[in-house]
Amino acid sequence: MRRQCDLASAAAVCIFVPTTSTCAPVTTLAQFLARADAIARDGAALIHTAVGREALDAARVALLGRKQGLLTTLMAALPALPTEDRRAAGAAMNATKQALELTLTSAEAVLAPPPDASRPPDLTMPGRDRWTGAVHPVSLVIDEISAIFRELGFTIALGPEAETEWYNFGALNFPPDHPAMEAHDTLYLSDDTLLRTHTSPVQVRTLQTYTPPVRILCPGNVYRRDFFDATHAPSFMQIEGLCIDEGVSFVDLKATLSEFARRFYSGSSRVRLRPSFFPFVEPGAEMDVEVDLGDGKGSRWVEILGCGMVHPRVLDGAGIDSEKYSGWAFGMGPARIAMSRHKLPDIRLLYDSDVRFLEQFSR
Ligand code: DAH
Repeated sequence: MRRQCDLASAAAVCIFVPTTSTCAPVTTLAQFLARADAIARDGAALIHTAVGREALDAARVALLGRKQGLLTTLMAALPALPTEDRRAAGAAMNATKQALELTLTSAEAVLAPPPDASRPPDLTMPGRDRWTGAVHPVSLVIDEISAIFRELGFTIALGPEAETEWYNFGALNFPPDHPAMEAHDTLYLSDDTLLRTHTSPVQVRTLQTYTPPVRILCPGNVYRRDFFDATHAPSFMQIEGLCIDEGVSFVDLKATLSEFARRFYSGSSRVRLRPSFFPFVEPGAEMDVEVDLGDGKGSRWVEILGCGMVHPRVLDGAGIDSEKYSGWAFGMGPARIAMSRHKLPDIRLLYDSDVRFLEQFSR
């Protein structure tokens, strides 16, 4: 089918009868100029007879469309012309294109008349509601925590959610018979692979890849075989932190995490460390922060993370000399932090995707 078919299809909306001049073959400059001329003339007529936005859009595609537009097809004939004629042919084509664009633009301008100045807008009309979306409250907490640790010199590191048993447990000094490795606690994908139960394996992966000094923060999803109730979810976010260098001590751990609490909660927030046990740290602790939840009950201690000095076996196992390097790590649950911050009674609110709940956090 020849080119006129394109104008004919535009004509389905525009009522346009193309001239046959757009169908003849083009091998000489004269033919080229005649064709450019015909397209300019027929195109202008097409635009002038087009009624409405749809018809004008169809005319634009038929004339200037990048794939099948008449001008594009004409351009394809350019290389067939003798070299010395191409400059004149190109100029004619550009002139046609500009003329058509100008005609189209003025036709489109007529379609959208300026607002009627004699009728001022009704300022008493209610405004239109605009849905702007919101960052999820847990993501907000993660962003805030990441920003604070970035200022303290930490980099974000990520690891896989499908982990091997070795990275998730063995490399972190879990004894082979630890109850967390049982199938009723952990979701196994195969004998050896599982959905990571915590973000701590990223410690090992990072230490295998980079030599200290290392300061990383690792937010990510973790999975446990838990019921979905008011205080548990089978999948939730954790944020892991790791700091390894020469001469790093428990003092650095406490100083850094207290500074974090002051920046995240308030300048006067106090923290306390309670001894605790995690196989991959020694000594291990849980950190509480003193917060006023604004419920009239005053300040109280709220547990926000587990932490400790990284166990020498974890360092050595990852290829880091524990005689030379030491450091600390922590793991926290941003969902719990979001819950205490917003006084949420049920963790499931954070998973429901209920817009009435989520839009409260839109900024
Ligand atoms: N991985 C621990 C958990 O999921 C949290 C944790 C505790 C991480 C102490 C640490 C740490 O890095 O030092 O319960």
